Amino acid sequence: MKALVYYGPLDVRVSEMPDPEIEQPTDVLVQITTTNICGSDLHMYDGRTNIEAGRIFGHENMGRVVEVGKAVMKVKVGDMVCMPFNIGCGHCKNCERKLTAFCLTMNPGFAGAAYGFAGMGPYEGGQAEYLRVPYGDFNCLILPEDASEKENDYAMLSDIFPTGYHATELAGVKPGESVVIYGAGPVGLMATLSARIRGADKIMVVDSHPDRLRLAEELGGIPIDMSKGSAVDQVLDLTDGQGADRGCECVGYQCCNKHGQEQSNVTMNELVQAVKATGSIGVVGVFVQEDPKSKEELQKKGHMDFDFGSFWMKGQSIATGQANVKSYNRELCALISSGKAKPSAIVSHELSLDEAPDAYKHFNARDKGWTKVVLKPGKTSSNKK
Ligand SMILES: NC(=O)c1ccc[n+]([C@@H]2O[C@H](COP(=O)([O-])OP(=O)(O)OC[C@H]3O[C@@H](n4cnc5c(N)ncnc54)[C@H](O)[C@@H]3O)[C@@H](O)[C@H]2O)c1
Ligand SMILES: [Zn+2]
Ligand SMILES: [Zn+2]
Repeated sequence: MKALVYYGPLDVRVSEMPDPEIEQPTDVLVQITTTNICGSDLHMYDGRTNIEAGRIFGHENMGRVVEVGKAVMKVKVGDMVCMPFNIGCGHCKNCERKLTAFCLTMNPGFAGAAYGFAGMGPYEGGQAEYLRVPYGDFNCLILPEDASEKENDYAMLSDIFPTGYHATELAGVKPGESVVIYGAGPVGLMATLSARIRGADKIMVVDSHPDRLRLAEELGGIPIDMSKGSAVDQVLDLTDGQGADRGCECVGYQCCNKHGQEQSNVTMNELVQAVKATGSIGVVGVFVQEDPKSKEELQKKGHMDFDFGSFWMKGQSIATGQANVKSYNRELCALISSGKAKPSAIVSHELSLDEAPDAYKHFNARDKGWTKVVLKPGKTSSNKK
């Protein structure tokens, strides 16, 4: 089959790879119809992780079931399914509590597994024609009848829609509250949509890219352009000097200061200032345990200069981590099906798999208009939206 393979930093190519096969009776094989490029893929693409050459990327996958193992009872050949990026076993202590991002058995020695991802187990990704899904009954969400019609919406259930929702859940966003979201990338935009779904009153979204801020506005957010002055001051102005009730971090360790240089503590320290005393902060932007290629000494060890004094004095709380996609995907799927949520609104490019290497270049450069790329392995020609 054809697949998008990592060769080294800034070097991904479409190569011929072996077709995946049923390895366990609980496996399901899926022919991928849509697979997205994610901001998380860029950490690997940039060479900022220890991902090995030869691995297939792709953890945001949806497709049609083409084969099921003997022990698969629920999922049937022909079903349209969307897979959470986390791979769970369904029977460990964490999976039982719906904490599927921290499965204890799929990646022994580490809590959490995913497709095509550094440090998340040996599983190949789905930026390919086919994908093997372990514990298929647990890890496939069977989609409704309109799956093909709303394909780009349902594909967002694999990661960014539930992840954006998780940011608002970790932050504890309630109806009528104000929230500040750092980052208007796909995850921040989905947090914006989710904050609206949860009934937030004032949703302030910080970024420096006008095209992304415009999308945030379309989704119900108030754009805060950090290139036009302190984001913290702008948020304080909008909240009577008190700060927002809740904050969401949707940028991660490669966040930038106002000069556009990477500085890993910027968003966390700004959130402490932009969120009110006793407010809470949900962090879904990825922070890593080691980052040897960083220019910052502390960040090399995965540490940061965090303003803990102000955080403590303000009595704030922080919750963090990968999104437990399976905790939310069924309910968010219902909102898509009934027309109450349309996460595909942020899709900027629908491309064939062959066009993926070029798409990585543009998306990595945060080129204007490259907000979210969906790849269609079954298609040969592209149509830019
Ligand atoms: N926790 C999870 O389960 C999970 C899942 C998916 C993605 N992620 C992570 O979420 C983060 C965002 O993902 P994405 O796909 O939206 O990435 P992205 O890189 O496309 O978007 C990040 C945005 O943050 C903006 N930004 C940079 N510095 C900033 C600052 N100081 N203040 C405000 N905005 C700033 C950038 O301009 C960019 O638009 C990444 O770290 C990704 O790995 C986490
Ligand atoms: Zn992702
Ligand atoms: Zn488990």
